[in-house]
Amino acid sequence: MRGTAADVLARADALGAISEEDGRLTRRLATPALARAGDLVSGWMEDAGLVVRRDAIGNVIGRTGDADVPPLVLGSHLDTVPDAGRYDGALGVLLAIAVVDRLAAPPPIPLEVVAFADEEGVRFGVPYLGSAAYSGRFEPEWLDLVDADGITLRVAIERAGADPALLLEVLEPGLACYVEAHIEQGPVLEREGLPVGVVSAIAGQTRAALTIIGRPGHAGISPMSGRHDALAAASELVLAVERFARESEGLVATVGSLTVSPGASNVIPGEAHLSLDVRHADDGALGQAVAGLRHTATRIATARSVELDWSILRATPAVELAPELRLRLASAVLAEGHEARSLASGAGHDAVILSGVCPAAMLFVRCAGGVSHDPRESVAEADVAVALDVLERFVVGEGRTGPAPTGSSRL
Ligand code: GLV
Ligand code: MN
Ligand code: MN
Repeated sequence: MRGTAADVLARADALGAISEEDGRLTRRLATPALARAGDLVSGWMEDAGLVVRRDAIGNVIGRTGDADVPPLVLGSHLDTVPDAGRYDGALGVLLAIAVVDRLAAPPPIPLEVVAFADEEGVRFGVPYLGSAAYSGRFEPEWLDLVDADGITLRVAIERAGADPALLLEVLEPGLACYVEAHIEQGPVLEREGLPVGVVSAIAGQTRAALTIIGRPGHAGISPMSGRHDALAAASELVLAVERFARESEGLVATVGSLTVSPGASNVIPGEAHLSLDVRHADDGALGQAVAGLRHTATRIATARSVELDWSILRATPAVELAPELRLRLASAVLAEGHEARSLASGAGHDAVILSGVCPAAMLFVRCAGGVSHDPRESVAEADVAVALDVLERFVVGEGRTGPAPTGSSRL
């Protein structure tokens, strides 16, 4: 039989070997590694009978069925964090292709399988660029985002051989619904002995870029008292962010990247650049936390006589996934003989953006130890087999039910 769990895992291994770096998996937007991964996925989509296209941002889209009927979309992302595991994103793409592989007859409703080019937002700091482009929600100013090497998104897309102007054509995609399978990235399913679960909601998140500008100087001759050390200020800020989140119920806040300029052992740091990622399930609490963190950062900068630039890159509110679609997914889980556990996601997913244009639902697959964003990510073949059975049953059932009604979700 085509489209087995073993096939999915073998393909995840093959994709996991395609990286920007030797010895670890890193695949960011608009890189040759992402293009090579896209080529491999595109071939698998064609083998499954899908007609494949690639859009300007690099999303790989495979389609089957009547072109005039809004499709049921299955997908997830192909980009990764640095030193990633093999399943975050890739598993959802591979499950979707395997479901098409398994369908004995032509799919009961038009299907689109999408491998999004950017969900993690690692290269340009803004997450969900792939699904935003696919959903007709791409913001023109994002083309001016700059990566760590000073390359704009516009230039990165041109170098990848695509036309960035195409991203500015705002199209209403006309989708029936979106269903994404993804590793849980948390411990709940493992703790409860369940192979899969149905996602109820996705936490809101705010990502910001912070720059601290101090004064560089000679490490040997500048007295300690008169210094404006940008890294010392940044260090105080990192610890303050950690303390703030520890003291706020339900809040997580992370400085995941810190670079220092000029970056030499005998030069006082003149500039520090920090990323900030703040998340909460409640939008009000998230807004208050971001304001509180900004206040804290300003206080630290003032006390140390350094300048602070605080720039919000993207804020996405919490999203409740579509109740009726979730029910239909839960019915498929039950029909396969498993408890339909409902659980919320602290991680962000492409479903956040898709839920702005059509009803969206997600199936979580148990992962070992809840470990993710880590090369030790792992899933069991038996759980992948359950996810495949559930998704296949859901897709076939959608053919009988018809497209889900639109408008039952919010961005
Ligand atoms: C994606 O993995 C995110 O939650 O940042
Ligand atoms: Mn991720
Ligand atoms: Mn992911």
